[in-house]
Amino acid sequence: MRLALLGYGKVARAVARLAKRQRGLHSFPITGIQTRHGMAIGVRGLPLDPAFGPPPPSVEEFLDRAAAQVLVELTPHNPVTGEPAISHIRAAFARGLHVVTANKGPIAHAYSDLRDTAARRGVEFRFESAVMGGAPVFNLFRHNFPGVKVLGFTGVLNSTSNLVIEAMERGGSFDEGLAEARRLGIAVGDASYDTEGWDSAAKTAVIANVLMDARVTPQTIPTKGITRLTQERVRELSAHGKTVRIVSRARGSSLRVRAEVLDKTDILASVKGVSNLILFDTDLMGRTGTISIEPTVDRTAYGVWSDLMDIVRSRTSGVAPQGSRNPEQQCFIQKHDDSHRP
Ligand SMILES: NC(=O)c1ccc[n+]([C@@H]2O[C@H](COP(=O)([O-])OP(=O)(O)OC[C@H]3O[C@@H](n4cnc5c(N)ncnc54)[C@H](OP(=O)(O)O)[C@@H]3O)[C@@H](O)[C@H]2O)c1
Repeated sequence: MRLALLGYGKVARAVARLAKRQRGLHSFPITGIQTRHGMAIGVRGLPLDPAFGPPPPSVEEFLDRAAAQVLVELTPHNPVTGEPAISHIRAAFARGLHVVTANKGPIAHAYSDLRDTAARRGVEFRFESAVMGGAPVFNLFRHNFPGVKVLGFTGVLNSTSNLVIEAMERGGSFDEGLAEARRLGIAVGDASYDTEGWDSAAKTAVIANVLMDARVTPQTIPTKGITRLTQERVRELSAHGKTVRIVSRARGSSLRVRAEVLDKTDILASVKGVSNLILFDTDLMGRTGTISIEPTVDRTAYGVWSDLMDIVRSRTSGVAPQGSRNPEQQCFIQKHDDSHRP
C-alpha cells in the first residue's frame, strides 16, 4: 500500500525508517511527503532523505500528486481545535484514502464524525498511537476483547507531571522536574498544558470518545493539575507513604482529570517517570489494563505501523472492513444511550 505522509518530524521519520527496515516483509512505499516547508513526490517510493520542492497550494493537491492509498497524518497536535489535521483527514476520506494518525487532536475533537465519514466512504481510520504511543489501547478491544463493553477507566497518562512530582520527592524543585521533562523531549512548548492536566484531558477525551462513544472534547472535561503543588507538600505526603498523580477517571458519562493523593502502594502510583497506565472497567472482562513502559518514538512509529498492517489484514482477510458495516455494530465502539451524554 502506498503511503502519503503529512508531516515529516520525529514520528514520521521513525515510520519511514521502519518501512525501510521491514520492506522485505511488508511493502509500504512512501510516494509523497508534505511538511510546512516543502513537498516530495516519488511514485516508485521516496528515500529516507528526499529532495523537497516547494509546498503544494493545498493538501488536496498533495494527496492527488502522491497517488497513495493511505494518508499517514503526523502533523503536530492542536489542543484547541484539532485542526488542520481534521481537515487533512476529511480531504483524504473524500478521495477514498484510508487514514492512520498518531495525532490526538482529530480524535479528541471530531471522532464520531470522522468515524462515520470513514464508514460511509468505505475506508479505514486507525489511531493506535494517539494514546500511549503504540501500547495496545484501541486494538486491545478491537482484536482481543470483541463484544466487551467499556464501562469506565482510570489512567495516569501524563509523563511530564510524573517527572515533576518525582523530582520534588527527591528534594528538587518543580522547575527542575520540568527541565528534566524538556531534556527528555517529553515537555514541549507551554508546559502548563501538561501540568494543568490538559494533556491528560485530551487523552481522556480520545479514549472516552472511541471506547465509550462519549462525544466530548477536552474542554468539556473538568480538569485540575499540579501547578500549585509545592515541594514541601510533596515531601510531607511522601513521609506518610503517599504521592500525587494526575488521574483521569471515566465512569459512564462522568469524566474528570484531577491531581489526586494516592498511597504509594496504589497501582496508579506505581507508574514512574515517562511510563503511563490505564485500567479499564468492563462488563465481561472485569478490570483489565495496559501499561506503557518508558515509551519511545520508535514505539509510537510501531503503533502507526501496526495500524497499517491491520488495514492490509482487514482488506485481505475477507472480514468485512470497518467502513462496510454500520458503525453502530462495531464491537470496539460501545454505544451508550444519548441521554447519558455530558
Ligand atoms: N513524538 C512522539 O513520541 C509522539 C507520541 C505519540 C503521538 N505523537 C503525535 O504524533 C504527531 C507527530 O509528532 P512528532 O513528534 O513527529 O512532531 P514533530 O517532530 O513536531 O513534526 C511535525 C511535522 O509536521 C509538519 N507540519 C506542521 N504543520 C503542518 C501542516 N499544516 N501541514 C503539513 N505538515 C505540517 C512539520 O513540518 P516542518 O518540518 O516543515 O515544520 C513537521 O515535519 C503529533 O500529533 C504528536 O502529538 C507523537
